[in-house]
Order: sequence, then C-alpha cells, then structure tokens
Amino acid sequence: MQFIRSHVLVCGGTGCMSSGSRQVQANLEGEIARRGLGGEVRVVQTGCHGFCEMGPLVIIYPEGVFYVSVKAEDVPEIVENHLYKGRIVERLLYREPLSQERIPSYDEINFYKKQRRVILKNCGRINPDDINEYIAAGGYEALGKALTLMTPAAVVEEVKKSGLRGRGGAGFPTGMKWQFARQSPGEKKYIVCNADEGDPGAFMDRSVLEGDPHRIIEGMAVCGYAIGADEGYIYVRAEYPLAIKRLRTAIAQAEEMGFLGKDIFGSGFAFSLHIKEGAGAFVCGEETALLQSIEGKRGMPRPRPPFPAVSGLWGKPTNINNVETFANILPIIVDGGEKYAEIGTEKSKGTKIFALTGKINNTGLAEVPMGIAMREIIYDIGGGIVGGKKFKAVQIGGPSGGCLPEEMLDLTIDYDSLTAAGAMMGSGGLVVMDETTCMVDVAKFFLTFTQSESCGKCTPCREGTKRMLEILTRITDGEGRDGDIALLEDLARGIKQTALCGLGQTAPNPVLSTLKYFRHEYEAHIKDHVCPAGACANLTGYTITDGCRGCGMCKKACPVGAIAGEIKQRHTINHSVCIKCGACESQCPFKAIRKGA
Ligand SMILES: Cc1cc2nc3c(=O)[nH]c(=O)nc-3n(C[C@H](O)[C@H](O)[C@H](O)COP(=O)(O)O)c2cc1C
Ligand code: SF4
Ligand code: SF4
Ligand code: FES
Repeated sequence: MQFIRSHVLVCGGTGCMSSGSRQVQANLEGEIARRGLGGEVRVVQTGCHGFCEMGPLVIIYPEGVFYVSVKAEDVPEIVENHLYKGRIVERLLYREPLSQERIPSYDEINFYKKQRRVILKNCGRINPDDINEYIAAGGYEALGKALTLMTPAAVVEEVKKSGLRGRGGAGFPTGMKWQFARQSPGEKKYIVCNADEGDPGAFMDRSVLEGDPHRIIEGMAVCGYAIGADEGYIYVRAEYPLAIKRLRTAIAQAEEMGFLGKDIFGSGFAFSLHIKEGAGAFVCGEETALLQSIEGKRGMPRPRPPFPAVSGLWGKPTNINNVETFANILPIIVDGGEKYAEIGTEKSKGTKIFALTGKINNTGLAEVPMGIAMREIIYDIGGGIVGGKKFKAVQIGGPSGGCLPEEMLDLTIDYDSLTAAGAMMGSGGLVVMDETTCMVDVAKFFLTFTQSESCGKCTPCREGTKRMLEILTRITDGEGRDGDIALLEDLARGIKQTALCGLGQTAPNPVLSTLKYFRHEYEAHIKDHVCPAGACANLTGYTITDGCRGCGMCKKACPVGAIAGEIKQRHTINHSVCIKCGACESQCPFKAIRKGA
C-alpha cells in the first residue's frame, strides 16, 4: 500500500488561478517528481478558501501550514525546506495586519478563527473534480438517506424543522416553498438552482460551485425527490467558466456513479440535471425572469401570482432555490433539522456566507453563524479598517441593501434585524467604508447600477430610478436644490410601492438608508456646497481644524478673501465664497486645513 505522508493543497479557485496558482501547481508537481518525492507527497488542486486576496494559497497537511502569495519561483524553497527538511518557510506565512505576527496554521488565522464553516467545509479541502473525495467527506449520504429511509413528505418536514430560509435574498422559508411545490398538482415538475449571482462584489455562489459542486447536485436531487420532480436546471452566469466546467465534470461523474439518472439507489427515483448559461443581466436573477430566460425568451419579470411553485418552467410546478440554500440541505438531512437549527437565532437558522469587500484589511468570503454581531465580522474576521482609518458605514445586501452607520456595529446579523435597520441580508455582500467615503456618492453608485439593469418593463422603475439618479447626480455635482431630499423620498416611496419586481422595489433602499443615517451629508452638499468626506470633485471644500494657531498664512494665500480670523485665533472659511483652489491647505504650516467639512 502506498503511504502518502504529505498532501500539498493548491487553491484552484478563480481568484488564485488569476494570480498564478496553475503555474505554482505545475512547478510543485515537477519539483516533487524531480526530487523523487512523488510516491509520498501528493499535490491536490482544491476550490477557493475564501481568502483570494492572499492567493495563490498553498496548504500543506498534516501540519496545516498555510502559505500565502506563493509564486512559481518560491516552489523549490517550499519543496527543499518544508517537504524535504521539515522546516517551515517563514517568509511565506500569513502576517496578521494589526500585530504583524506571522501565523503558521490555517486555524490560527483571525480570518478563519471566528468563522463557522458548515457550507464551505469542503471548499479548499477536497478536489472538486474528484467525486470520491466528496464521498469520502460524507457526500451523497443525504441523498442515500432520503431515498432509502425517508418519504418525500418526511424530507420536506425535516427542511421545515431546520428553519432554513432562502439565501438568494428574500429569506423565504425553504421548507414551506418545497411544500407548496410538492402539493402543486402535476405529473411533470422542475427544480431550478439560481446561480446567477448578479450582485456586484458577490462571489459566494461561485466559490461553492467551484469548490464543492457535488453538494449542489445532491441538494437539488434531494429536493427533486421531495417535491416529485425528475429534472432540474442550474442557471449559472456565463462569466463563471470554471464553475461551469466543474459542474459539468461533477454531473458526468454523478451520472456514472448512479447518483443522477434512473433508479437512483435502487429506489425507482429518477433525476437528471442540465446547465443553462445566463448572459449576465442582473434582472435575470429574479426568479420569473430567470425562468423565461431558461425557456429561451428575453429575461423579463412577470407578475406573481402565479408563483413558480404553481406555474414555473414551461408552465409546470417548479421549485427555485439559490446555490447556498441547496448547499444547506446536506447537513439538514444527514444530521436532522433540529440539530441544524441549533446554530443561529430564533428566526434565522444556520450560517451565512458574506463577501467582505471595501476598506477592510481582510477581504474575502467569511461564513459565520446567524446572530453574530457586525462588529465581530468587520474587526475580528475582517481585521478592521485599512490604514487604521475610521469606520464610517457598512453597505449590506448588495444593490438592494442599505448602509448602516457606526452606531449599528453591534447589530446582530439576521434577516429581521437587518430589514428593521433599513438594510437587508440580500445575497451577502458586505462593503465596508471609511471616513473618506461620501454617502451620497455611494447611494448614487448603487442606483446607477440598478438603473442601468432595470429591464424597462414598468414605468416606476424605468423612469423613477432615472429621475432619482438625476437628482443624486446634481447633488454630488454641487447643484443640489432645496426640496431635492423630499423629492428623493417621494420618488423612492412611489417606486417601492408600484414597481413590478424586486429590482425596482428595492432599488431606492441605498438612498433611503443613507438619508436615514447620513442625512446631514445630503444637507451639506445641498446647503453648504461641501462634501463632508471630501470625495465629490466639485465639492471638495476645505475646513480649518482645531490645529489652527491663527498664523494667518491661509488668509493671505486665499485669492478670493474667503478666510476670516484674527491673529492667534482660529480662522474660518466662508464656503459660499471659497472657490476650492486648495491654496490655503498647501500654505498652512500646521497642517490644520483639510479637504472636506
Ligand atoms: C433583481 C433581482 C435579482 C436577483 N438575483 C438573484 C441571484 O442572483 N441569485 C439568487 O439566488 N436569487 C436572486 N434573486 C432572488 C430570486 O428572485 C429568488 O427569490 C431566489 O432565487 C429564491 O431562492 P431562495 O428561496 O433559495 O433564496 C434576485 C431577485 C431580484 C429581484
Ligand atoms: S421593477 Fe424594474 S426590473 Fe422589475 S419589471 Fe419593472 S422595470 Fe423591470
Ligand atoms: S480653498 Fe482657496 S478659495 Fe477656498 S479658502 Fe482656501 S485658499 Fe481660499
Ligand atoms: S480562489 Fe484561492 S482563496 Fe479564493
């Protein structure tokens, strides 16, 4: 029998591939073979670990040593020192951003320590192209158990007991959804997996598909059995070529092993899967638009009811769930719904994957238990704000979400508290902003996105978002008018109440939440013609701070006489006269003048 003493895991996710992991892997294989270690050291390509910014990542087991930013040229040193002489290559270890300490082991890194990796358990640990590794990690046990030991109704009950809510955005109880589709009369039914993942910055679904594709296949097959469907579609955006490739391989392997096809586990249950590539329109993530797109029509939402559970794909009862929702099915069936429900809060069970981006030290994917405080995600897992700057806001829930201020940092993350605070769980985008971010500009950024992605079918969304965007643009250009805030609020209310689909109904959220928590910034833009963050080009006003010693240098430098003040007393700027030339800032010997209000 062959004895493998070391496994070298090379990340083969999209992030690491684009930073050169393919060459790192090739060099590792070559160097290991050259030194005659091929019989005792195995190189394995895995999916994403969620820490893509540190890639390419290489982890060596059994020690669990975690090497970051590995280059092809580093390979001889890793092989010589780590694999040959048993010495860790210190310079390639991860360095904690705050303490600057080098951390050798994966489990000791703050980014991973507070995570609870249930859904991402296999991502980065198994070879996604090898069904045997998935099976060895407990894969297809849920399907086997469901088909051989449970009735379809019992499967639905178990999912209901788990309290799982849809991870695609709205948080609808999954067990109820399955029950509706199961109760819908019809010989032919479909299962659809929504892998459109259109939120800017979100990549949790892509990571699961790339790193653990069989988990989605298994979740869908269990759902097919529960509701009485024999066919399913995975709708995945064409911009995810690696996820599509791995899914295709996984489907072929599952068919060959008999986990897809006819008479699965000798139970008489048949289930087959197809992949449909989406062309990247955000609105095609909306379930009714997505179904139209699978049917080969233009992806445009339609009114509900009828809901897909009654009339979905080609008019047949259809159950549609998000990738992460299906990824939760395995532990629910294997360990039971009650066990699953031990994680989380009363009304939000299980874990949630967030994509941490923006001005945060550790960007990447973090899976956390529901009920964790925002502060823990941003400071303990995310490592705090880049450059030690001051935290200003976190935008949560993607373009349909909201911006929460510092006072909300202790808010616990669950569906209901986020909605009550004016944000939403969405698909799990979490963008951190520091003091240099203008909140009006942020609202404009998200509205620009939703406006350009509006399908145009209904007037409130098509025209209303355009008007809102015009107002935001003139405010950030320094041409805001009295009454603009009230107009924005009016339009937002109207669009939310009358737009046909979730895109329009949620598009005003970033504007409403920034108005709720950062209204003074809108007022400063409109009334004082100043962008407090110093971010809007036309409004980069200047402020004289407490550091002013009253030397008068700025007053002398100002070409338009906008500065007033007596010698040895703090000076002030008249913003209605100031032409924002910056001369005062560069002349102040005490650095007491800064951009912004
Ligand atoms: C504009 C828009 C885009 C959406 N995009 C996605 C998406 O990319 N992925 C997703 O799972 N759900 C998306 N949804 C939500 C879906 O309509 C649907 O609620 C979801 O797929 C249901 O699955 P779940 O119950 O598992 O969450 C989107 C909704 C809207 C209104
Ligand atoms: S709300 Fe917007 S995206 Fe949705 S149907 Fe209407 S126009 Fe299209
Ligand atoms: S920015 Fe220019 S115009 Fe404005 S106060 Fe300073 S020196 Fe005067
Ligand atoms: S792709 Fe390697 S950590 Fe994400």
